[in-house]
Amino acid sequence: MVDTPGKDPVAGSNPALEALPVALPVDDDSLKGKISHMVRQSMANNPYFAAGGGLMVLGSALALARTGVIKLSRVVYKQMIVDLEIQSKDKSYSWFLDWMARYPKRVSKHLSVRTNYIQHDNGAISTKFSLVPGPGSHWIWYRGALIAIKRERSGRMIDLVNSSPYETVTLTTLYRDRHLFDEILNEAKSIALRSNEGKTVIYTSFGPEWRKFGQPKAKRALPSVVLDEGIKEQILEDVLDFMKNGKWYSDRGIPYRRGYLLYGPPGSGKTSFIQALAGELDYNICILNLSENNLTDDRLNHLMNNMPERSILLLEDIDAAFNERSQTGETGFHSSVTFSGLLNALDGVTSSEETITFMTTNHPEKLDRAIMRPGRIDYKVLIANATPYQVEKMFLKFYPGETQLCREFSTKFRDLKAEVSTAQLQGLFVMNKDKPQAALDSIASLSTPTTIH
Ligand SMILES: Nc1ncnc2c1ncn2[C@@H]1O[C@H](COP(=O)(O)OP(=O)(O)OP(=O)(O)O)[C@@H](O)[C@H]1O
Ligand SMILES: [Mg+2]
Repeated sequence: MVDTPGKDPVAGSNPALEALPVALPVDDDSLKGKISHMVRQSMANNPYFAAGGGLMVLGSALALARTGVIKLSRVVYKQMIVDLEIQSKDKSYSWFLDWMARYPKRVSKHLSVRTNYIQHDNGAISTKFSLVPGPGSHWIWYRGALIAIKRERSGRMIDLVNSSPYETVTLTTLYRDRHLFDEILNEAKSIALRSNEGKTVIYTSFGPEWRKFGQPKAKRALPSVVLDEGIKEQILEDVLDFMKNGKWYSDRGIPYRRGYLLYGPPGSGKTSFIQALAGELDYNICILNLSENNLTDDRLNHLMNNMPERSILLLEDIDAAFNERSQTGETGFHSSVTFSGLLNALDGVTSSEETITFMTTNHPEKLDRAIMRPGRIDYKVLIANATPYQVEKMFLKFYPGETQLCREFSTKFRDLKAEVSTAQLQGLFVMNKDKPQAALDSIASLSTPTTIH
């Protein structure tokens, strides 16, 4: 029965055989002892069997070592390698891509093109391309450290807001170099902010979120907007005073917000003034036009509660919310923001920062008195057609030093007795660039209305 245990060379590698002596019947002690001895003997003496056993031990040792090495390398990886994930919904995502596009010491085989539209002050649009790292792997050498960068699209997940796929960028480096992540992000942020220095970022709504409208524009200087005497100064003083008084508001439990209404005819400089004011305060500006189609109460509320930091909110044409017909859709024109929706949105803004809202309208008579309550509109001012004061100031701005002609222009202007907007006045001066006499000669053209009410 156990006559050939060690004679079969294959049996040597069979671990079942090792247990064989113990499994033998125990009816005869001496027989069992003998057999057991015999088997051990033959195993020890049989070179095949001994070699098989050795291989098996070696094999298991190697297998153990392998899992050990894998586990160890995982621990080492965890201890020594550090990842940073930046998601596309985070602000720093585009800052980082732009930073990397400019970074010279990088190896990127996958590039994406990003096209930016630049709208110039004269309305012309030009485009600028930048090559940013595309989806895939990239390497950069940063301050003596190697950083692996992986940009990935996350499967089928789509950002419903802008219908682009969700993405992540993962930066990987050695644990000891982890402080570099902070440095890179700070560098990327300051480059992004520096490119906005001296500029006003204009945001408009895109679905439920704010999006930059074109490239940041050079700040409009406050003196370039000519309002009637003292108006600019008074508004600026009021805003600055409001901005200083955060504690006063919080001590009294009053929401820290202030609303301004600028009303008056078209082309009187309302929008221009608010943009210049934002520049003066070093604020950005979020513009919403209430006469815009598809702006619902919910969207308005959401947008007003999710403004980018350091922004002034500009609600244009607020009379649209009070236009009964537009809400019922009797005419082709349809705006979905309702009167109560606007009031709720104004009342409901909860921001830890101050909220400065400017509203404009050409039709103040359409506004319901309910909107004039403090906290909604705290300050209202008429921005009217050109006054003699404005006419003179604008004339001298376009034709510096021409005081004599300015006086003549001003007298003729009074004699016209026409309602002229500052935009029309600007138009006349632009048409007669560097020709004050020609402007004076064609002043009568101002009395023919060019604006449609
Ligand atoms: N008071 C002003 N000072 C300087 N520029 C002005 C002034 N008023 C109008 N303009 C010029 O006229 C153009 C139109 O002005 P703006 O859009 O600010 O008018 P608005 O009052 O907002 O008009 P609307 O009521 O139609 O929105 C701009 O190019 C602006 O530079
Ligand atoms: Mg305007």
